[in-house]
Amino acid sequence: MVIKVLFVCLGNICRSPTAHGVMAAKIQQQRLGARIGVDSAGTSDWHIGRQPDSRTIACAKRGGYDLSTQRARQVCKEDFAVFDYILAMDNNNLRELQQLKPTGFSGHLGLFLDVLTEQPLREMPDPYYGDGAAFEQVLSLCEAACDAWLARMLAAPKGA
Ligand code: 4NP
Repeated sequence: MVIKVLFVCLGNICRSPTAHGVMAAKIQQQRLGARIGVDSAGTSDWHIGRQPDSRTIACAKRGGYDLSTQRARQVCKEDFAVFDYILAMDNNNLRELQQLKPTGFSGHLGLFLDVLTEQPLREMPDPYYGDGAAFEQVLSLCEAACDAWLARMLAAPKGA
């Protein structure tokens, strides 16, 4: 049984590619590749086919993550038939996903940062118009939240 997780933001060039790359690295380090699959997408069609933002790639690289092979895509209705966990970066992304969600979806659709109950942010701050510190903040939140989601997903493989 493979658990599939999809990270979703607006452009699929900053926040969700970071979560995608961090989760992929953790899956590899913990030898979970046969049990967990990961992908990312954007609610918009603005950057389809492009690499993550160069600032996102550079920040992740400093942390030891390679995002350079990722390409942006737009989330679609069919994703709900594939993924068990669909995790939105902010409330706007979540609203769009709730509108797209077919009635039969039985997985988990929610906010990525909801798993980090000990810190106050429920939404991942958008770093696109921010500085280097904004990208660093995204990366460190992704690292903490991916650890927490991995533990939760292994305990409840099919969402809920
Ligand atoms: P992301 O960030 O949703 O984390 O990929 C953004 C990327 C692009 C834009 C906004 C946010 N944009 O306005 O093009």
